[in-house]
Amino acid sequence: MSDHSSAAQGQSGQTGAGLPTDKELVLKVIPMPADCNANGDIFGGWVMAQVDLAGSVLPARYVDGRMATVAVNQFIFKQPVRVGDILSFFAEVTRVGNTSITVQVEVYAERFRAQGRYVKVTEASLTYVAIDDQGKPRPIPKAPAG
Ligand SMILES: CC(C)(COP(=O)(O)OP(=O)(O)OC[C@H]1O[C@@H](n2cnc3c(N)ncnc32)[C@H](O)[C@@H]1OP(=O)(O)O)[C@@H](O)C(=O)NCCC(=O)NCCS
Repeated sequence: MSDHSSAAQGQSGQTGAGLPTDKELVLKVIPMPADCNANGDIFGGWVMAQVDLAGSVLPARYVDGRMATVAVNQFIFKQPVRVGDILSFFAEVTRVGNTSITVQVEVYAERFRAQGRYVKVTEASLTYVAIDDQGKPRPIPKAPAG
């Protein structure tokens, strides 16, 4: 089992294994063959969907109700994702506005049969808006739960 604790920290902001210490682990998932593109790597749209889901976890603690993704501000595919990789999604709230929350997401892959070593495969910034029952923006009501 790899050590994710702060005792294993290497350079500033990272564990010895290269994982971020300033972000929260919000999702882990293993892509399947059905998620591949014509190259045999994982389809970028599948990765984007997972990042959208992962990015919504921290805003969900603030908005206390409905929200919608309003913008993908940046999305970088740094390395391909492959079938059988264990993907870890780390997130950090970078801005809380009046009705919107912006989140930075980083995705790390443990390659198939190379678990315990982490490769950053994707990073993205997304903005979510708290919405009311009519789908209109509403103020963010409170500080995050927990
Ligand atoms: C999300 C939505 C309700 C926002 O409505 P809107 O009238 O554009 O809202 P506003 O212009 O008042 O902006 C609301 C917030 O979003 C932010 N925002 C709007 N457009 C943005 C953009 N392109 N990039 C980043 N932030 C943006 C604004 O800065 C504002 O944040 P703040 O209140 O914290 O300052 C509307 O655009 C919508 O329904 N979009 C479709 C959402 C959707 O279907 N998403 C995919 C599935 S979840």
